[in-house]
Amino acid sequence: MSRMSRSTGERGPRGLGHGRRLHGRRTAHRLRPSQQRAMETLLPRLQVTLPPEGALLDPAALFEETPRALWLEIGFGAGEHLVWQAQRNPDIGFLGAEVFHDGIAKMLRHVEEEQLTNVRVFTDDARELLECLPDASLDRAFLLFPDPWPKLRHHKRRFVQPEQLDAVARVLRDGGEFRLATDDPGYQRWMLIQLMRHPAFEWTAERPGDWRERPKDWPATRYELKALGQGRQPVYLRFRRRARQDETSSRG
Ligand SMILES: C[S@@+](CC[C@H](N)C(=O)[O-])C[C@H]1O[C@@H](n2cnc3c(N)ncnc32)[C@H](O)[C@@H]1O
Repeated sequence: MSRMSRSTGERGPRGLGHGRRLHGRRTAHRLRPSQQRAMETLLPRLQVTLPPEGALLDPAALFEETPRALWLEIGFGAGEHLVWQAQRNPDIGFLGAEVFHDGIAKMLRHVEEEQLTNVRVFTDDARELLECLPDASLDRAFLLFPDPWPKLRHHKRRFVQPEQLDAVARVLRDGGEFRLATDDPGYQRWMLIQLMRHPAFEWTAERPGDWRERPKDWPATRYELKALGQGRQPVYLRFRRRARQDETSSRG
């Protein structure tokens, strides 16, 4: 595991220092034997472990061959999107963060079957990983169908909050892309308000089709298909990370 000294970005406290937990359960079902095997044999080879407090990860060094670019998926679920992208972009290094064991195991099975070499996995809260990434180290980040936490008293558990947006903005390079999707009408409004208010992000949509239709380089996930089957229309949002020198000084 390669490490770098701390760069200009300040890292906050790890773990419980973040305050509230944002994610739901970590386990649900007993894993199938093939999934269990992947967790025991493949995961140790692909797992990202964090450097000690005060050090930063060198994410490119996690890969056998230096990737052309680095993309991060936060909460990849069963990994349908991550694996699809990794297959089609072999020169890009993929970091996936997910806490749900069933999903991690399913994703690992795909990585094994497709013999992908460009995927690395972080099995804890994505906020911990974000803290350890150097400034401007990523080219793209994905947050697809994050838990909507629809009840008002749970809104504070939503991943899209100013703190997390600051963290994503810090690790994205200028001109990098942040892709988000949700089928929850309340979270759709919430996401747009938070992102539009953030000085680092600029919405790239020019016409309704740009957010109503899923782009061709963006596959469906299991969660999305379930939402569509239940009659909920997702939105597909793409934001550009503004050049740091062009960031407006105030939010909103
Ligand atoms: C509703 S699911 C969507 C999964 C996937 N993106 C999809 O579209 O099918 C949200 C996922 O995010 C994961 N998650 C939530 N908060 C997380 C966090 N802070 N760090 C890592 N994963 C998280 C959950 O475990 C869950 O698998």
